[in-house]
Amino acid sequence: MTSQEPFHIEEDIRRAETPPAAFYREPRFLDLARERVFARSWQLVPEAERLREPGQLVPFSLLEGCLDEPLLLTRDAQGEVRCLSNVCTHRGNVVVKDDCRGQGMRCGYHGRRFGLDGRFQSMPEFEGAEGFPSPRDDLPRVALGRLGSFTFASVAPASPLESLVAPVRERLAWFPFEKLALDRSRSRDYLVQASWALYLDNYLEGFHIPYVHPALSGALSYPSYRTETFEQGSVQIGVAALGEDTFELPPSSADAGQRIAAYYFWLFPNTMLNVYPWGISVNVVVPLAVDRTRVSFLSYVSDPSKLDRGAGSGLDRVEKEDEAVVESVQRGVRSRLYERGRYSPSREIGVHHFHRLLARALST
Ligand code: FES
Ligand SMILES: [Fe+2]
Repeated sequence: MTSQEPFHIEEDIRRAETPPAAFYREPRFLDLARERVFARSWQLVPEAERLREPGQLVPFSLLEGCLDEPLLLTRDAQGEVRCLSNVCTHRGNVVVKDDCRGQGMRCGYHGRRFGLDGRFQSMPEFEGAEGFPSPRDDLPRVALGRLGSFTFASVAPASPLESLVAPVRERLAWFPFEKLALDRSRSRDYLVQASWALYLDNYLEGFHIPYVHPALSGALSYPSYRTETFEQGSVQIGVAALGEDTFELPPSSADAGQRIAAYYFWLFPNTMLNVYPWGISVNVVVPLAVDRTRVSFLSYVSDPSKLDRGAGSGLDRVEKEDEAVVESVQRGVRSRLYERGRYSPSREIGVHHFHRLLARALST
């Protein structure tokens, strides 16, 4: 193991070992993950909902508490939406502080002006400066992409957004993405006293459901619960127990004829789309410290009549049950007597895939 490669995960799950406990408790690994994993990832931008009219500007902080990257969304007169750095190219002041309207931006420090496309427009007192202005005086553009009504941004994408979201698009070609509306009253943040990666490890297997979630366990058929992996993520498929709510899948669906209660999509590294007959519960996992994590639950409802039923109900209770077990594991990984574990070849495929993607991203 070199400092370039914090840990290795064997490709064959039957032989593989889980990451060393130190990964979950030492701050240096979170510093590494912040730059090598999170700074190169695609992140949901819920603030994009506020950008409706031409001439609107919406400043936001990408992955607040982890990346804290000051960014700016603009919509120009033609309706084109852009995501820009919100840091002035002169001496680094944050340019736009609050939502506003305008035909461009003016930095409040020394008056540099930019267009809504981020291009440098003017600057007082720079007569005589050589090679000025240059393209480096424009505000850098940040990549944007969409999945239905969801907007994602990345400051330094390691791969195209499509490599994450194409499996969702294909599997849910029939899903009414256009009907989704964010319901703030059903959205909230949870603070978990554990590593972001422990939260993910737990999310990525249904192995614990019979032990940790007795009520949810009654709504799902455990023998039929399965995980499929794809390039940059995975999906867990929850099959409904008899009498529970299911999707009405069209014949074109790959799962037509099955009694599916929920699709749990995970997009590397920290975005989950939990798809239920009522809509999508989006979870965004944000590392705040090596043993402190914020999980934002955002409820996007497409069919309110199906709320509070089946596998997509009682999410608050399920979350509390998950938090308790994940916080218990955080205490466990501090032990001097625990180093690393092994995987269930049938039930921990998603966890193993996460660790493989994580090890690769951390080492490059
Ligand atoms: S920092 Fe923006 S004009 Fe000086
Ligand atoms: Fe759980």
